[in-house]
This record gives sequence, C-alpha cells and structure tokens, in this order.
Amino acid sequence: MSAPSCPCSADSVLASAPGRVNLLGEHTDYNDGYVLPVAIPQRTYVQASLSSDGRFHAYSQNLDENVAFDPEGELPDGFARYVGGCVRILRDHGIAVPPLCLKVHSEVPMGAGLSSSAALEVALLRALRQLLGLDLDDVQIAQYAQAAEIGYAGVQCGIMDQMAASLADTGHMLFLDTRTLERRLLPLPPGSGLIVIDSGVARTLATSKYNERFAQCREAARLLGVPMLRDIADASALAGLPCVLQRRARHVVTENARVRAAVAEGVDGPAFGRLMNASHASLRDDYEVSVPALDILCDMLRARPGVYGARLTGAGFGGACVALCERERAAPIAADVTVRYNRDRRRQQASVLLPAPSPGAGAGQPQPLFNSPG
Ligand code: GLA
Repeated sequence: MSAPSCPCSADSVLASAPGRVNLLGEHTDYNDGYVLPVAIPQRTYVQASLSSDGRFHAYSQNLDENVAFDPEGELPDGFARYVGGCVRILRDHGIAVPPLCLKVHSEVPMGAGLSSSAALEVALLRALRQLLGLDLDDVQIAQYAQAAEIGYAGVQCGIMDQMAASLADTGHMLFLDTRTLERRLLPLPPGSGLIVIDSGVARTLATSKYNERFAQCREAARLLGVPMLRDIADASALAGLPCVLQRRARHVVTENARVRAAVAEGVDGPAFGRLMNASHASLRDDYEVSVPALDILCDMLRARPGVYGARLTGAGFGGACVALCERERAAPIAADVTVRYNRDRRRQQASVLLPAPSPGAGAGQPQPLFNSPG
C-alpha cells in the first residue's frame, strides 16, 4: 500500500501508544474517582515530519484517506479531527507547531471501547514531542490529549484513557486516582490472565448518552452538596436523590469502592472476579450502559470453569467485554465462547482481541509500518 504523495520532509520520527482495557472503575474518572486499566498489545503508530507546503497533512493508513487541513480553521471530521485538536491544544499552550505531515496506522479497533482515540492522541503528542523537542512529560501528554478529546471530539471524558495510553503497560494494572493523579502499577492477581471480546455492536449515540451520564453525575453531586461524587463514601447518603440520579450515583459510589477493594492486599482471582461481576450488574442496572450482546457474552464467559468474572469495559452502549480467568485457559475459552456466540447468525459477529490472536503482534516495538515518507 503506498501513501499519496505529500510535501513531507525525509526526516521523520515514529511514535506509538497502546489501547487499554479497563478492569474496574467505569464511569468514575469524570467523578474524580478511581480506575484500573491495563494497556493492550494493540497500538496506534504516528509518523511525523515537517511539511514544506505550509499545510498540515494527515494520512490514515487504515482508511487510506489523506486530509489536508488548517488547524486554525474548521477542523475536519474523522481521525483528522483528533490530530487537529491536539495541534490546537499545543498552540493554546503557547507551543508553536509548524505545518506537519502525519501518517497514522492503528491496530486498536475503533468503537470497541478500547480507547482508540486516546491511543491516537497520545501517539501523536509523543511524535511531536520527539520531532519538535518539546518539554512535555507523560502526564502533560495525557492532559493535553484529554483536552483535545473534550474540546474537539465533544466527549466530556475523564482522564483514564489518556493516562492509560501514556503511562500503562501490558503487564500491570494502572491503579489511578483521577483526582490527584497518584498512581501505582500493580500485578494482576496471581495466575490470572485476561480475555477481551469485541461484541461487534457499534456504540450508537454513545457520545450523547455518555454526556448525559456526565451531566446526571454533576447534578447528583450538586444536589448532595459535594464537589464530585468521589466525595461520597457511603451509598446510604444518596437516599434523598431523585430515582434516576440515585441509581447513577450509586453506581459511581459502589464502583469506587470496588476498585479500592480490588487493589487491597491479597485479593485473588476469584475475589477480583466477583468485583467485576458486581461492576457489570451495576453498569447494567444502575448506570444503564450495557446492551444485550454484552450481557450474553459476559454470562457465557462466567459459565466457563476457570473464568473468575466478566464485565463490559469502556463506556458501554456496545463495544467489548473483559474477563479475568486462569491464565493458561484464556486463549481456548476466548476462542470457544466467540465461536459459540457467533453461531447465532442474527447477531453482530464478535471477535477475540485478547489474548492477541497473533502472538507478539504490536508488542510495543515501533515497526517500519509506513512506506517512503513521500
Ligand atoms: C470512555 C471515556 C473515559 C471513561 C470511560 C468510562 O472511555 O473516555 O474517560 O469515562 O468511557 O469509564
């Protein structure tokens, strides 16, 4: 595959960032709460060089689409919007960004709840840090990436995805306090591994429903007289809220407690799995962000000996689910559950994302993915 020609300098840099799967702590980050993501092996790569024609060019290898844009003007839709948004955020912070040629290749599936947009934003900002010699640390990169997502993708997101893309690795859980940004890398429970299955169900209206949940949480906090729902430790304090707000807030309060319980000393696979099952029930019943496909897949996974627990992951409204199970059983269980689920041809067809189908695929080394820079 060859990229369309563009006026790119021959000196280019290549950077990348991973997608993430969140194990516990869903819809808590925009409430200043706790999260527990793990980076996945699938990564997004950005090659960056200077442009000589005074314009910005962004090329997506996945889409075979080339977009020229002016970051000061109307930003294009699609992948180039995230690119233009990051450039604008840098400029807002007084960082001069010259016209660029950018090439993007992503292994992170889009719309599966595995943070493909954060992987793109962080990979791009890393590439620009390298190309332009910017003095940015990994937390600033995550913060700028989040600002781009809020400002230009229109999602009132928290900072989990961007912190995971910038600071997590595939071998640890990133226990993050999204209020203070204090964090610790922790091992998975002993002997356990992860399964991630993409339900194939597209996340329809995800942005508007996500922003509605954000607004409901803010309103609940306002009625309770606290800055954020993070400041409520006990669900009994929610009794006076209107019914829907009470359920939304109960999810957030109990989910924060589940993350804290999961990172306590000595939590084994079965105990961790029970917390994941409870998280799914709370997301389904109180937060109302699950869909039947995710409920079915989680039930099928839980029915397998060796699986400790399963839940939807990411924002919900479609996308993927994650299970914790005995490590050596993860690959065969993931394959078998997916085959059986897909036997019903009326369903959107599911696919296994973890364990990664081809061992070592995208295992973290930037690959020479792009053809000539031109
Ligand atoms: C999306 C957002 C995150 C987080 C999750 C839900 O991935 O980008 O900030 O809110 O949904 O936990």
